[in-house]
Amino acid sequence: MSRTFYVTTPIYYVNDVPHIGHAYTTLAADVIARYKRLKGNEVFFLTGTDEHGQKVEKAANAAGETPLELADRVVKRFQALWEKLDVSYTDFIRTTQERHKNGVSHLFAQVLAQGDIYLGEYEDWYCTPCETFWTETQLIDYKCPDCNRPTEKLKEESYFFRMSKYQEQLLAHIEANPDFIQPKSKRNEIIAFVKEGLRDLSISRTSFKWGIPVPGNERHVIYVWFDALANYITALGYPDQSGNFGKFWPVDAHLIGKDILRFHAVYWPTFLMAAGLPLPRKVFAHGWWTVEGQKMSKSLQNVVEPNMLIDKYGADAVRYFLLREVPFGLDGDFSHTALVHRINSDLANDLGNLLNRSTAMINKYFDGIVQTPGPLSALDQAYRAKTEAMVTQVDAHLDELAFSKALQAIWEVISAGNKYIDESAPWALAKDPAQHERLGTIMYCSLESQRIIYHLLAAFMPKTATKALSYLSWDAPPTEAGLKWGGLATGTKITKAEPLFPRIEEGTRD
Ligand code: ME8
Ligand code: MG
Repeated sequence: MSRTFYVTTPIYYVNDVPHIGHAYTTLAADVIARYKRLKGNEVFFLTGTDEHGQKVEKAANAAGETPLELADRVVKRFQALWEKLDVSYTDFIRTTQERHKNGVSHLFAQVLAQGDIYLGEYEDWYCTPCETFWTETQLIDYKCPDCNRPTEKLKEESYFFRMSKYQEQLLAHIEANPDFIQPKSKRNEIIAFVKEGLRDLSISRTSFKWGIPVPGNERHVIYVWFDALANYITALGYPDQSGNFGKFWPVDAHLIGKDILRFHAVYWPTFLMAAGLPLPRKVFAHGWWTVEGQKMSKSLQNVVEPNMLIDKYGADAVRYFLLREVPFGLDGDFSHTALVHRINSDLANDLGNLLNRSTAMINKYFDGIVQTPGPLSALDQAYRAKTEAMVTQVDAHLDELAFSKALQAIWEVISAGNKYIDESAPWALAKDPAQHERLGTIMYCSLESQRIIYHLLAAFMPKTATKALSYLSWDAPPTEAGLKWGGLATGTKITKAEPLFPRIEEGTRD
């Protein structure tokens, strides 16, 4: 039976257009999805859009369209970007789809019927931009502690979810499952938050209309987070156990930004507990990107548009940069200089050169034909061992979602590969006919190591990997079996490679 792997991104709000922050989470999910597929898992990779709520209603009004018209327009932009970035999602859920609305109504009705949802009255401080209620003590000068904007006191009839009831159960679960919330620093924050005490949660609104009606009381719409979080199960066909839901739930990894950790690590698990459903195996909150040292924002007009970067540098360079530059879980800064530096030094120099020089040499010395390797020298053995160790290391790093460490481990072998050629000096051996077999062995080791490297890089840079492997006459899609040393067959024709990444000749900008 094949193993399954289920990974998700947040569903993005349609009142914003996609930027590198959204691309970051989605690319991380794509890398893990591609890698798990390579390892033989049946993967379900979900992304989508969050289309209800007051903010969308307001944005649509302002633009003179219906909320759904606005959503349709923005959804196209997200989907076009994911295509351009080679994002291999399995399904794209929109919260305005029937399958989602039905699932959310079912979840609400079930939790209501069992008594964990009750009708009450709400009075608290509400931050409209953040769609969050705050208690008076949480406010800072009566402003939202998250965004520092004014809040307003609201009183309305509301359905409440008995979140307080699940406080101890949640805490026990977090403590018994050290990997449930990651990274560790974030886990500690959540533990501290839960220990302070969970209040019941208002989960309906009467103040606007754009949402899923409360079953049996259509004056209310279901609060956006109850609606949005359920996407992770409605996309699988919840409540129907017979198909994907039975097969893929519980999710292996929810990837999110740290801004929405509380919703995923506190609200969502308690909703699931109330519904009697298993909890996510892992919620991973990554850090925040700033741009050239500043917070990305519409008002600063510094929002980095991925389309522009892709047109200029290619999807794979963007994919590589975002996952290599910053350890997953930490904050990072996007700068043009850093991007150009990574492309020139890691991709054009280290990676590209290795492929260029090795494929050029085998063409020069053997008309491009892979020779049967002779006995491996100590140098060859060490290089092979390093390549094999990389496969194990990358697997361990990716299990921890440590993308940049995985890439570092690969680049260590790329550097070793360039050094291996320098030290074995094929150009000198080529002058001596007695060294013919030795020369063939060196070519073999160099190309075989790279064949394995590109199998691993296929998850990060799919187009580049396909292209590089095609120079090695390896046209089959990368598989787990292909990670084993020895896959390159004697007699294979190697094509002299074109540069994978041309150097970018602007040092810095502005
Ligand atoms: O919060 N750096 O949607 P959203 C890193 N609809 N990641 C960033 C980022 C940045 N500067 N900016 C955005 C919502 N992100 C809800 C989610 S899920 C059930 C509902 C990424 O459009 C990051 O993944 O505001 C963050 O969590 C997400 O975009 C928020 O997207
Ligand atoms: Mg947001």
